[in-house]
Amino acid sequence: MQLLFSRSAAAPGPISADALATIYRHEPADEEGRIRLRTNFVSTLDGSISGADGRSGSINTPSDHYVFALHRALSDAILVGAGTVRAEGYRAVDLADWQRDLRAAEGLSAYPTLNIVSASGRVDPAVATPAAGPGGPVCLITTERADGPLDELRDAGVDVVRLPGESVSLPAVANLLAERGQSRVLCEGGPQLHRDLLAADLVDEVSLTISPMMVAGDGRRSTRGPALPDPRHFGLHQALHAEDETLFLLYRRRA
Ligand SMILES: NC(=O)c1ccc[n+]([C@@H]2O[C@H](COP(=O)([O-])OP(=O)(O)OC[C@H]3O[C@@H](n4cnc5c(N)ncnc54)[C@H](OP(=O)(O)O)[C@@H]3O)[C@@H](O)[C@H]2O)c1
Repeated sequence: MQLLFSRSAAAPGPISADALATIYRHEPADEEGRIRLRTNFVSTLDGSISGADGRSGSINTPSDHYVFALHRALSDAILVGAGTVRAEGYRAVDLADWQRDLRAAEGLSAYPTLNIVSASGRVDPAVATPAAGPGGPVCLITTERADGPLDELRDAGVDVVRLPGESVSLPAVANLLAERGQSRVLCEGGPQLHRDLLAADLVDEVSLTISPMMVAGDGRRSTRGPALPDPRHFGLHQALHAEDETLFLLYRRRA
């Protein structure tokens, strides 16, 4: 991996795994205890966030798998929309040894919590079971109108939080995560949740992977839903290039 550009002290050139973890470390929570939220997407050169199978797995590259795992290793919480959970078959987060070692060195809890946002609560209780070995906690943040299998989810070990309203209030989610000490938040999508987080002014960083392929088709962009009344502006914080021709861009919100 080569660091092409960095707004911090890091100099351009080849970058070690340790230095990569350092430059992707989250900013600490601010004095008021607000969360820091990073969104992470992979997109093709022609702007699609999924391949022919409707998933992101078919547009990933080996280096993107690594950076995706690094983001997880550096976060207290993963925030994800139920559409992505259903499309990608999400499960409780399991970690490789290097991710566990990194979390211990960074003073983080053993596993990030997987927080799922769903108005309907329609999520398969299998989400509580990691795909392999032990895994982290799962929390479903839903509404009072939810008609999904909430009892089965609770029986499977999922912490179910019901908030008032037709939709899930994202500022209320941010407060909940802050109260629970989950200040380093990684949002893994999807596009509807991403759009709503931007509308609520909760996105501090955007991590965008450019996968070196073109797929055409009707794939989505990283946001979906009504246009924002005003654009949100971001500045490039760092750029990296991997041997497999993948580009990694990290943007931070401009004041
Ligand atoms: N390339 C990438 O990096 C990447 C990353 C993520 C996802 N994706 C792709 O994106 C596609 C899914 O798109 P999507 O827009 O459906 O994803 P999504 O935002 O994860 O899911 C939408 C669903 O999430 C819940 N939700 C989101 N925001 C909410 C809010 N503010 N309040 C209440 N509920 C909320 C709702 O669930 P309920 O219906 O249960 O109420 C809603 O129907 C998949 O094809 C996936 O592969 C790609």
